[in-house]
Amino acid sequence: MISKPKNLKDSSLKVYIKTFGCQMNKLDTELSIGSLTKKGYSFAEDENDADVILLNTCSVRDKAEHKVYSQLGSLRSQKEKNPELILGVLGCMAQNEGDKIFKRMPHVNLVCGTRMFSRLPELLDEISGSNKHVLAIDEDGEVNFDRMVTQRQNRYNAFVSIMRGCDNYCSYCIVPYVRGREFSRTVTDIVDEVKKLADDGCKEITLLGQNVNSYGKGLDGKVTLATLLRELDPIDGIERIHFITSHPKDMTREILEAVGELPGVCEYLHMPAQSGSDRILEKMKRQYTSAHYRELVEMARSIVPGIKIASDFIVGFPGETEEDFQDTVDLLRDVRCQSSFIFKYSPRTGTAAMELVDDVIEETKKNRNHILLELQKKISTEENMKMHGKSVEILVEGESKSDAGRLVGRTRQNHIVVFSPPLEVNQAGVSSALSGTLINVEIADSTDLTLFGVIK
Ligand code: SAH
Ligand code: SF4
Ligand code: F3S
Repeated sequence: MISKPKNLKDSSLKVYIKTFGCQMNKLDTELSIGSLTKKGYSFAEDENDADVILLNTCSVRDKAEHKVYSQLGSLRSQKEKNPELILGVLGCMAQNEGDKIFKRMPHVNLVCGTRMFSRLPELLDEISGSNKHVLAIDEDGEVNFDRMVTQRQNRYNAFVSIMRGCDNYCSYCIVPYVRGREFSRTVTDIVDEVKKLADDGCKEITLLGQNVNSYGKGLDGKVTLATLLRELDPIDGIERIHFITSHPKDMTREILEAVGELPGVCEYLHMPAQSGSDRILEKMKRQYTSAHYRELVEMARSIVPGIKIASDFIVGFPGETEEDFQDTVDLLRDVRCQSSFIFKYSPRTGTAAMELVDDVIEETKKNRNHILLELQKKISTEENMKMHGKSVEILVEGESKSDAGRLVGRTRQNHIVVFSPPLEVNQAGVSSALSGTLINVEIADSTDLTLFGVIK
């Protein structure tokens, strides 16, 4: 139940938000930071220093929910030491579990679903000093996209939500239940936001949606992802545009032609195949065949030379036989994705696949997961070796986390490139001097996940 908003005053509470799950959640965290900042909340660098700890959560697999429950368990002692501490669960798992979270973890104060973020300041205000339970998971809550462009994790790139929700109901997937119906933002709203981001120094944007290829459904006029890309490409200051995720059933020639023609739109598609077996794809309710997926990859490569394709795969879906799995191996081996996320099927309550028996035993799931990972690793290693000696443009992101003293950036095709700063740049200022700039480096070495470059 949600009580009436009080008159909000500036809060002196310090908030710490930890984000789990996908890019949508990262963006929701940014939107929450924006709305809390407007109401005078500040942010703690460390959870031990916070008056409010919020976990923005994911429900996509059982493991993701376990992780959050175990974090909440370990926060119990912190709450005992400091009973004033406000603990909140936000996002997909909040929407999915609702007040079950209070039953299992009574020390949690707030459960705030995926459409309630803009009400966070007033919800926290209501809890402050009372230590009560507040549940806010209304399904018709309105999402407020009004972001403070300055409240971003990184100055040079930003996620921009172009749609929310999902109407596809793939049989294994919980997302439509926790994120609600598909809804596209208007072109004007998106263009305005991207212009503001560009004015604030942003050079690279990633358009986000569960299925960006169906962007425009429900909007007036003939609006598609392709027409949106054509509106965004000319915006001054925006050098690179990415979009994720592409659903094969809605991929069109028109979209690929826009990618090929527009200089700012990057040569990269995240287009999950999920399986290579038509029998399994049908049970998954994916609405395409593996032959269609192959045709799309071919079309993409002929229209956009050099385009890289990333995929997701689920292994061990109910009824997946060795033969079905071999079809998936064949698909990956033939299309040679640049990278893949590979998941073991995890039954989700409420989804259509729950009707099917989860009959692939854990050991087989693990084994198939391993085989596909190894194949992807081999392909990525070989493809990355083909880059040796080539000069590539990268957008510098900052210092490498794993390689002190070196910098890291990304190519237009989303390869991670680690390189040494030029000698003339002094070490202390390296990161600030080059971050956010586009430079050319020559690739000298690589692993499956990283390219190593030198500045020539
Ligand atoms: N909208 C995106 C994906 C969102 S979820 C798309 O359609 O491509 C991210 C990935 O998680 C999915 O692509 C799928 O591979 C995986 N996934 C979703 N539900 C799952 C489940 N129940 N078990 C295992 N993996 C799952
Ligand atoms: Fe889930 Fe399918 Fe929607 Fe992706 S398209 S979010 S996999 S239901
Ligand atoms: Fe994303 Fe997980 Fe929600 S994948 S949409 S955070 S269920």
